[in-house]
Amino acid sequence: MKKILFVASEGVPFIKTGGLADVIGSLPKCIDREHYDIRIMIPRYTCMRQEMQEKLSYMTHFYMDFNWKEEYVGVLQAQAGGITYYFIDNEKYFGGFKPYGDNHYFEIEKYIYFSKAVLSALPIIDFRPDLIHCHDWQTGLIPVFLKERFYGDPFFRGMKSVMTIHNLKFQGRWNIDDVKRISGLPDHYFTADKLEAYNAANLLKGGLVYADALTTVSNTYAEEIKTSFYGEGLDGLLSARSGDLRGIVNGIDCEDFNPETDPHIKYHYNQENFRERKIKNKRALQKELGLAEDDKKFMIGIVSRLTDQKGFDLIDCVMDELCQDDIQIVVLGTGEERYENMFRHFDWKYGDKVSANIYYSEALSHKVYAGCDAFLMPSLFEPCGLSQLMALRYGTVPIVRETGGLKDTVQPYNEYEGSGTGFSFANYNAHEMLGTVRYAEAIYYKKKREWNKIVDRAMKADFSWHVSAGKYQEMYDWLIG
Ligand code: ADP
Ligand code: GLC
Repeated sequence: MKKILFVASEGVPFIKTGGLADVIGSLPKCIDREHYDIRIMIPRYTCMRQEMQEKLSYMTHFYMDFNWKEEYVGVLQAQAGGITYYFIDNEKYFGGFKPYGDNHYFEIEKYIYFSKAVLSALPIIDFRPDLIHCHDWQTGLIPVFLKERFYGDPFFRGMKSVMTIHNLKFQGRWNIDDVKRISGLPDHYFTADKLEAYNAANLLKGGLVYADALTTVSNTYAEEIKTSFYGEGLDGLLSARSGDLRGIVNGIDCEDFNPETDPHIKYHYNQENFRERKIKNKRALQKELGLAEDDKKFMIGIVSRLTDQKGFDLIDCVMDELCQDDIQIVVLGTGEERYENMFRHFDWKYGDKVSANIYYSEALSHKVYAGCDAFLMPSLFEPCGLSQLMALRYGTVPIVRETGGLKDTVQPYNEYEGSGTGFSFANYNAHEMLGTVRYAEAIYYKKKREWNKIVDRAMKADFSWHVSAGKYQEMYDWLIG
């Protein structure tokens, strides 16, 4: 039995702010559990929902030497979907009413604490993974610590690590003196071939230098990040390590996201009956959100973190033009204030055409995936993207920009061949996007049978973890034999 430990800053069903949590919660369930004992470790945030908190049970606690103090480290555990989750507990770091705060310095200290606490906890709970699979910058120091102070300890000797990039934009950068003090790493780690980048310490870079293998969440993104446009300053390093870097596309949990059984939606449907039944969800959504109740209106959905990454400046640029069309737009998201206010403004301006829902709601997200006709995601960059996969699964046709995982998972409609599962455009250009939305609109209004065939193909596509889980297993085998 090979032992694998996933370490991340969030994971479904306990805590989620974005796609990372979906991956952490769904991929391990699809790894072959006859051959792999796979467990997960995340922080115990006090903002976790009460019903989830109640599932956690105390295991142990100890004190760890950290940042020149003795810090408390509690370990709790819980089961979900047949997988063991461990939680690192410390109220100073994981208190607060949301997982991530705005004080950048504190975030750095918090996740260095987490990385060290994870490794320190393993001998105490007596779980010795053969491989630690780290996700994103918050866990970047784990591969570094593994090769440094923990290496002398026979418990850790030979333990492998993998670093997965879900988003290269976030790297955990801070000044070298502070990071040196907090991490306790010696001077020689802070050079350009190790943790230093552009005169700062960079936690993700540490992970990318020291991990035994690297992955990211789609093939196209794996290529893109070796270029300066997408490389966020680390393209040189990623090119140098390209032999160790693989792109493995994300899947989704096809049980949680299933239009036939989804408890969040009122009218269940499948590939056979979506023509009659999907529309009922649209009606229900129009009613719930106070939009004009009209079956025929082309309804576009957006469920997203409201950040630059997702291409909202393109939408801002052409929203007035788009709202002249016979359409409805439903937005669900939170994030940067300027985008929250932008959508509130259009909601106010276009009353029963635009509905801006500036909050987080699992239930409403499922209703949007089920109720809309199309799903808009014009990202500037997109490592993988899960929302478009969810939309496809619910027969809601994605309109995307051809970047990263969007390019790999949405096959553009080709009216001559009668193929494709969505619509896409290449350049980061507002009118190119508008043209593509209008093309989709035209097919929807004028060629309904064609439209339904796109929906049919979208619902037929396989976005389970099956194939990708196999690729992770292959990588684990290659690393640990
Ligand atoms: P990212 O991880 O970059 O935010 P993904 O497309 O990979 O983008 O994943 C986003 C996930 O977060 C999806 O599961 C989506 O449904 C969910 N999500 C985003 N915003 C909200 C929101 N306001 N309410 C509910 N779910 C949301
Ligand atoms: C990141 C990316 C997103 C990806 C998700 C899960 O949040 O922005 O594209 O789907 O991680 O890997």
